[in-house]
This record gives sequence, structure tokens and C-alpha cells, in this order.
Amino acid sequence: MASRILIQLDCDPQPSTFDSVVAVDAGAEVLLRHGNVTPDAAVPLVHGAMFTRGGAELASTAIFVGGSDVAAAEAVFDRVRKTFFGTVRVSMLLDPAGANTTASAAVVAAGRHLPLGDPAAAASLRAVVLGGTGPVGQRVARLLVRKGVGVTVASRSLSRAEEVCGRITAAVPGSRVEPARADTTITPGTPFAGVLAEADLIVAAGAAGATLLGAAGRDLAGRARVLIDLNAVPPAGIEGIAATDKARQDGEAFVYGALGVGGTKMKIHRAAIRRLFESNDAILDAEELLAIGESL
Ligand SMILES: NC(=O)c1ccc[n+]([C@@H]2O[C@H](COP(=O)([O-])OP(=O)(O)OC[C@H]3O[C@@H](n4cnc5c(N)ncnc54)[C@H](OP(=O)(O)O)[C@@H]3O)[C@@H](O)[C@H]2O)c1
Repeated sequence: MASRILIQLDCDPQPSTFDSVVAVDAGAEVLLRHGNVTPDAAVPLVHGAMFTRGGAELASTAIFVGGSDVAAAEAVFDRVRKTFFGTVRVSMLLDPAGANTTASAAVVAAGRHLPLGDPAAAASLRAVVLGGTGPVGQRVARLLVRKGVGVTVASRSLSRAEEVCGRITAAVPGSRVEPARADTTITPGTPFAGVLAEADLIVAAGAAGATLLGAAGRDLAGRARVLIDLNAVPPAGIEGIAATDKARQDGEAFVYGALGVGGTKMKIHRAAIRRLFESNDAILDAEELLAIGESL
């Protein structure tokens, strides 16, 4: 059997060692690591993967696209996909800045307590994604609207939130997604207080070390049954949630911190690498990673 080769295409100057270590732990036997990868630079690298092995052995070569610039990595991923033709292809995975694995792990956590797998029940749910304009938040919102949940994308800037909602609607036509400007000081009676009060699920996907929901906001979010804070750097993104919280019951709600979600994220990442080597035609983006997470 041919060695399992993972070709790491990273948009940063130095390919991520984190992604390399996970790949080896998940069974990749040879890593070919490339940095500063652009869409044009990716093409000959992809040809090298396509035209060396043939037939069943193509499944033993795979491509991982990563890097800290999510838009740049998406452009590389798109070019890689378009470079393949017919059956001459290898499996590929997109996880820039860990955004896809983290977002899918957050939705897996929410699905342990909310009926996300039942379209009729999910349609009655409302979620708020705080920091919803970042790479992780955008994907959390996209995954939730695909489940039929009504999602509010919150940002300090209404126009940035509107832009993200536009992108999600383009990707998922008919989705129930709306923008909101998040107040820094949350007071009862404001529109944003109303958004929080109606939420069944709140996910904080703000930048490291930024508190997006303080005690006053939490008091208003009385309906929320699940609160997830993806920020691991103090102070907490949601006041009162510790990074290590994992399905800790806090009043009527179950709460998760970044490390509580991180274990599932790592499992999804490893399982996705293993999945790459099962066939030569897997294309693993956030939706496919969520399906992997739900099957674990
Ligand atoms: N657990 C894990 O394994 C894991 C893996 C990856 C990432 N993460 C964490 O997940 C979170 C989201 O990651 P990301 O890369 O999407 O984050 P990001 O791009 O750094 O930030 C997300 C959003 O936070 C908002 N923001 C930035 N600074 C802020 C501030 N001072 N106050 C309030 N809001 C602010 C911005 O939205 P607006 O400007 O539109 O308001 C931004 O789009 C981070 O905390 C990251 O550390 C965890």
C-alpha cells in the first residue's frame, strides 16, 4: 500500500506546526509542507499530487489548506478544487486558523442540548452569534442556518454584520439570518436586549480576550439553554463561563468554554484527516466537518 502523503498548502510564510502535528497524529506518514501558497502557486503543487499515483493509490495522497488568512485560504481551496478533473483528483480539507473545526465543534456542543437534528424543531430555535463577523463566528452562523435555526449575527458594526448575512444568504438561500449591532453596554429595553432575550443559544466567537457578554447581558438572556464561549484568553467572552466548562449546568443553561469545546474540535480535526485517506474525492469544508463531528 502506498504511503499516506499529506500536502499542506499554507498561506502563511511558515506552514502551521499545529496542523502538521495533528496530521501525523491522525496517520499521515509523509508531510509535504508549503508556505506562502497563493492560488496560482497551488496549481503545479496540485498537479504533482494528481499525476503521480493512479487508480486506488490516489486515495493515499491528500491536500490540507490552512493559514491565518481565511479568505486567502478559501481562494487556494477553490483553485485546488477547480484544478482537478474527472476522477483525477485527491481528497482535500479546509481549516484555516482552525475556523472550520472550531465552528463545527461548537455546533456539535449545542446539538447535545438543542434539537438541531430535527428540522421542524430547529426551525423554532433562535441563536445569537456574538463576534459573528470573524472566521469562526461566520461559520457557526452558516452551520446553524443550514440546520434551519433563526440566527442573529452580532457585531460592533451593523454594516459588517449585514455583509456577513449577505454572504450566508448567498451560500444558503432562504436562510433565516439577520444582522444586529451589539451594544457595548447592554440595557433592558434596547433592540439588542430583545435579541438576547429571545435566544435559545448564544455563541461568543469574539476576538481573544474580548468580553462580549457581561453579567447584565446574561441576566437578559433568560431563555438561553446553551451558552458557548470560544475565547480561551482571559477575561472570558461570556462572563461567568470558565474556559474548561463543558456542559456545566448553570441555572437552566448548559455552558461551554473554549477548552470544553476544544476536545471535540481536536477529535473532528483528526477524524477529518483520517477521512481524507479513505477515498480520493472527499471535499471537507465546515459542513462536512460538522457531519463528522455529529458522527463521533
Ligand atoms: N477553542 C479553539 O480551539 C479555538 C480555535 C480557533 C479560535 N478560537 C477562538 O475563537 C474565537 C473566534 O476566533 P476568530 O478567529 O473568528 O476571531 P477574530 O477574527 O479575532 O474576532 C472575531 C470578531 O470579534 C470582534 N472583535 C474584535 N475585537 C473585539 C473587541 N475588542 N471587542 C469586541 N469584539 C471584538 C470582531 O467583530 P466586529 O469588529 O465585527 O465586532 C471580530 O470579527 C477567538 O476567541 C479565538 O481565540 C478557539
